[in-house]
Amino acid sequence: MTDLSAIQVTKSANMIITKLLKVRPDERVLLVADTRTETRMVTALAAEASAIGAEYLITVMPSREKFGTESHTALPESIRKILEDFQIVIGLNATSGAPSYDSKVADLLHTKKIRYMSMVLRSIDNWIGGAATADYEETYATAVKLAKIFEGKDIKVTTPAGTNLTARIDGRKAIVEAGIATEAGQSAAFSDGEVSLSTVEGTANGTVVVDGPIAYLGLPREPIRVEVENGRVVRVSGGREAMILKEWFSKIENFDNFAEIGVGVNPESRRNGDFQEEKKGLGTAHFAFGDSIYYYGKVHCPIHFDVVMYEPTVTVDGRVIAEKRKLNLARA
Ligand SMILES: [Fe+2]
Repeated sequence: MTDLSAIQVTKSANMIITKLLKVRPDERVLLVADTRTETRMVTALAAEASAIGAEYLITVMPSREKFGTESHTALPESIRKILEDFQIVIGLNATSGAPSYDSKVADLLHTKKIRYMSMVLRSIDNWIGGAATADYEETYATAVKLAKIFEGKDIKVTTPAGTNLTARIDGRKAIVEAGIATEAGQSAAFSDGEVSLSTVEGTANGTVVVDGPIAYLGLPREPIRVEVENGRVVRVSGGREAMILKEWFSKIENFDNFAEIGVGVNPESRRNGDFQEEKKGLGTAHFAFGDSIYYYGKVHCPIHFDVVMYEPTVTVDGRVIAEKRKLNLARA
C-alpha cells in the first residue's frame, strides 16, 4: 500500500513554513542536511517554501559519525560562508547537531540576522506524532512564561533517582525554544518545547543521575551516575552506556564541561526512548555536556550532548519552578 505518512509529513512541513517560521515570499531559506537525513523532510519543506514564492537552497554535508575525531558542532566552511545570504536556516542533519551549534549560526542569531529551526538528530517519527501534534501557540506561551522566572542567580535540580545539582546562572539568558521563530534572532526546533540556559562556567556541583534517554545512545539500560565538580565531570558510573560516556569524557576536549540546563514544556511529548522527543516533555529536565556557545556560554567543544532526567524539582533562587511533571508559572 502507498505510504500514507506522506500526508502528515506535508501537513507538518506546511505548518513549519507558513505558521511556525512564517516564511515570506521575499525571503530565502537554507536547508542543511547530511547524507543520512530523511529526504522526505527536506523535499516537503522545500516544496512549501517554494509554494509561497520563497527561494530555497538545499545543501548536503558529510555525515559525522566518529565521536571525538569529527566536529559535531561546526559546519563546513563552504556552508558557513553562505549563511548570511539567508533569512531562514533549517538544520536537518541526522548524525550531528552541526548546524544548530555552529558558532557562526549562534553569532547570526545573537545579532538578530537570521532565524533558525532545528530538526537535527530527528526522523519522520518526530514530525508526525507526539510533541509534533501540540498546540504551538499554547506551548510557546508557556515557554515565555517559564523563561521569565527561569533567570536568576542560583539553580538547583533534584530528582527521585538521585540527581542533586546546584549551579550559578546569574547573567545567563534563558532561551525559549518552542516551535515558533518568526522574527530574526529567534530559534526553534521541530518538534519542540523547552526553556534552557547555560550555567556559569566552573559553578555546577553535585550528582547527575540520568534515568531518561541520552543523545546518540538512546535509553540507558541502567541509570548513569555523573559527578560534577566546579563545572566539570569528575566521575562516571553505571552500565554499558556509562562506560562509553566515560571514554568520550576522557578523550574529547571540553566534553566534560557542564553546558546546559533545560526544562520541557510540551504536554504531548511521548516517552519513547528518543531524547529529542522526551526532553521536550512537560516538566522533564535535561542537562547537556560539552559545547555551550549557543546558550551564551563560553566553552567550545566538538560535541553538545543531552541527557534526560525524569520528575525533576527545579528551584531558582529558592523558588520551585517545576515539580512532579508540572510547572509553577504563577507570579511571585
Ligand atoms: Fe536544551
